[in-house]
Amino acid sequence: MDVESLLSWYRNNHRCLPWRTDRTPYGTWISEAMLQQTRVTTVLDYYPRFLEHFPDIRSLAASSEDEVLKLWEGLGYYSRARNLMRGARYVCEHFDGELPESSDLLIRIPGIGPYMAGAIASQAFQEPVPAVDGNCIRIYCRLYALPMIPSERTTYNEVYSRVAKDIPPEEPGDFNEALMDFGSLICTPKSPRCTACPFATECSANLLGKQEDFPLKKTKKETPVEEHTILRIFVGKKILVHKRPSSGLLAGLFELVDLPGNMEYHEVKKWLKDNLLEFCGDSSLAASFIEPDIRVLGTGKHIFSHLRWNMIGYEIHLPDQEPIKGNAKKFGELVSAKKYGSLAFASAIRMYR
Ligand code: ADE
Repeated sequence: MDVESLLSWYRNNHRCLPWRTDRTPYGTWISEAMLQQTRVTTVLDYYPRFLEHFPDIRSLAASSEDEVLKLWEGLGYYSRARNLMRGARYVCEHFDGELPESSDLLIRIPGIGPYMAGAIASQAFQEPVPAVDGNCIRIYCRLYALPMIPSERTTYNEVYSRVAKDIPPEEPGDFNEALMDFGSLICTPKSPRCTACPFATECSANLLGKQEDFPLKKTKKETPVEEHTILRIFVGKKILVHKRPSSGLLAGLFELVDLPGNMEYHEVKKWLKDNLLEFCGDSSLAASFIEPDIRVLGTGKHIFSHLRWNMIGYEIHLPDQEPIKGNAKKFGELVSAKKYGSLAFASAIRMYR
């Protein structure tokens, strides 16, 4: 890498960002935490507000989680906010309220990983240490036509050692931030602006005319699909709901009766007969199962990040019954329409609510 070309590009094209103009170690830490998974333009609103509310590490350490989360509201990935607070408390306890000046010590702080330790140490303390993120990997993979997949450990190690050789000891922070800006403005994931690139004549991917083929793309695994049958069951005017466990998918949210598989009308009818007679335990209910009131609500789908649900929904009306004690828990609970409206439901089943 022609380091001087990159630095000279940065001097002429860098973005004027608040954490750069008024550089402090604390501000650098907050900005790097906010910038993980989040666009610069979004962070521009949040950064000054956060710093105004929590001007230093001690004020952040003394705050409540609710206060920090409120300032973070809308930024997403809320574990970052909680980590910042935990990190601030750790810094008060172990480093007397000041961020330590080396990446080796920074990485001991909860929430600070290798990338962030490198970013803070190089930008705030001028330590010549890499800060390898997705931008950096993309730029190096293109420049040297490295046939590597970004998310793999070997790719990170390869790019880290190349950056470590290139990083100029007198301007390590600018070098790392130059890579960030260059990756955001020129060497973008899609349609890179190679005609404006100072490395156009030395970039192997550009010379091959295969800029977008580097880094390699991970072959996408098929998203697993689950079939669900969702039952909105009215017993009289009450509705049968169930609270999901406090961990795992859709933790703690309410749902309707959710049965595995894509059940047809006659299967739903059989399920009702086998299960809800027991639930309500009144023989007068048996009559309603000869031709129960079952309406099809239609099919739906919901896509999670790692999973797809295909659903079919039914609405069922049963006569007013008191569930047998103890059996109610097995299925959930019967709630009034008013309470039903106030419960937090999984948005996956929004269409059947
Ligand atoms: N993304 C992560 N850190 C950044 C920084 N310091 N400047 C611009 N974009 C970034």
